[in-house]
Amino acid sequence: MMTSVAIVYASRYGATETVAQRLAAALQENDVPQVWCSEISVTDPGQLASAGMIVVGGPIYAGRIMSDVPKFCETNRKLLLERVVGLFITCLYEGDQARAQLNEAFPSWLNGHACAHADLGGAVRLHQLKFFDRFLMRKVGKVREDVDRIRMDAIRSFAATLRDCLGTLP
Ligand SMILES: Cc1cc2nc3c(=O)[nH]c(=O)nc-3n(C[C@H](O)[C@H](O)[C@H](O)COP(=O)(O)O)c2cc1C
Repeated sequence: MMTSVAIVYASRYGATETVAQRLAAALQENDVPQVWCSEISVTDPGQLASAGMIVVGGPIYAGRIMSDVPKFCETNRKLLLERVVGLFITCLYEGDQARAQLNEAFPSWLNGHACAHADLGGAVRLHQLKFFDRFLMRKVGKVREDVDRIRMDAIRSFAATLRDCLGTLP
């Protein structure tokens, strides 16, 4: 298969970047050879247009996905609607709360178009956080130590689903 997959992500502190890289590795393990990752604000439009599948992801802050993500989606609306698309979030909530955040994260036109959606967990390293984010994590989130809830099982099953979506390409 020669179709390439672009994974474009936003990340404030690096957890989503790690998830994107692990997803790329999982896709390669699923026999998808051409996978590349790019931070959303520096994504090369020409390279993006050459991808058969575009996977878009970002972290949830205070219930909302990082604003770079919806901006990217609106700017690239036409292209995204012409490609096979996968969507993911990283976040610390789990279960119904995570599903609700995933549902709200992307515009409805893109939710309806995407072949796969996933919540891939998340991580926080307290020492990295800027003062206000650390304050919120401690006071509101009651997080007192580093948390790593990146869900490798979810990354693997998302990669397998994306691989199946690629199989439907002409
Ligand atoms: C200030 C702050 C607010 C957050 N708000 C939420 C939230 O509302 N819901 C949630 O599930 N996770 C929340 N998180 C967790 C992040 O979504 C998670 O740590 C994510 O993996 C961070 O990704 P990044 O390192 O790529 O920015 C928050 C984290 C911080 C630091």
